Amino acid sequence: MNQLELIRALPKAELHVHIEGTFEPELMFAIAQRNHIDIPYKSVEEVKQAYNFHNLQSFLDIYYAGANVLVYEQDFYDLAWAYFEKCAEDHVVHTEMFFDPQTHTDRGVAFKTVIDGLQRACDDAKSKLGISSHLIMCFLRHLSEEAAFETLAQALPYKEQIIGVGLDSSEVGHPPSKFERVFAKAREAGFLIVAHAGEEGPPEYVWEALDLLKVNRIDHGVRSEEDEALMQRLIAEKMPLTVCPLSNLKLCVVEDMADHNIRRLLQQGVHVTVNSDDPSYFGGYMNDNFIAISEALDLTADELKQLAINSFEASFIDDTQKNHWKNQILALA
Ligand code: HPA
Ligand code: ZN
Repeated sequence: MNQLELIRALPKAELHVHIEGTFEPELMFAIAQRNHIDIPYKSVEEVKQAYNFHNLQSFLDIYYAGANVLVYEQDFYDLAWAYFEKCAEDHVVHTEMFFDPQTHTDRGVAFKTVIDGLQRACDDAKSKLGISSHLIMCFLRHLSEEAAFETLAQALPYKEQIIGVGLDSSEVGHPPSKFERVFAKAREAGFLIVAHAGEEGPPEYVWEALDLLKVNRIDHGVRSEEDEALMQRLIAEKMPLTVCPLSNLKLCVVEDMADHNIRRLLQQGVHVTVNSDDPSYFGGYMNDNFIAISEALDLTADELKQLAINSFEASFIDDTQKNHWKNQILALA
């Protein structure tokens, strides 16, 4: 089996994907039309031309604008279902997807509408495609602590459907410490905890995510490499980093894929995983990310397998399921 065949054959778990970031222009047009909502583009080509981001904020502005056309339960279902079909193509057998409730509730869409649509897609993915999933809701860090507390309260009736709470949106200037109290409350309520840190923000934000939010995983975290003591902490604690190579390239976190540090992190013993982040915006889904790093960094078959094993070990599934997928990976030639 060559690297490409191996990437396709590996069962994989995706742990860092924003469902709003899987919104393909074709579906965006279809939903905008049926909901009679204007979008500032005339064609799919025009949408794609607008995707020339150079940093996180320039991406987020377009990402939030696109999400505006999502209004009804069926819209959220269609969005998630389209993503699950991509998972099936890429042999992603388990996914833990982020959603941003505030992006929708701030426009008057009910929390229930969002969660019902996503949950129905998750149920269908299990029964029709054999793909398991969990939902993680993220607080938008550019909004206030108070708004995050309100969102947490809205989520409590759906506690059984939401495995964890995360933190996303504009990182610099909005450190994890801003949300220390609301994450403490989320932990008390029994949610698992993740947070974006060390994407554009400094290693100090990763320290805060560990020490103040008490995260189970760090999302991105690639800037941890700048701080040797932090690296030792991540290695010692086997703290997963959900790395998103094509995202890092598109948002200029790295200049060239050949400069990406995922292989160095892996070789040093950091528990890195591969993920797509916002695949519709960043040029590819799970396998595209694997292929991009495999080619640019000349990854070995053992390294590709280790990345796939890491994805299950870092996931929130039980040990029986983890061992099942790990054995399948080890059995590949
Ligand atoms: N970083 C921060 N916020 C986000 C991202 C990201 O990569 N994608 C969607 N919201
Ligand atoms: Zn992200």
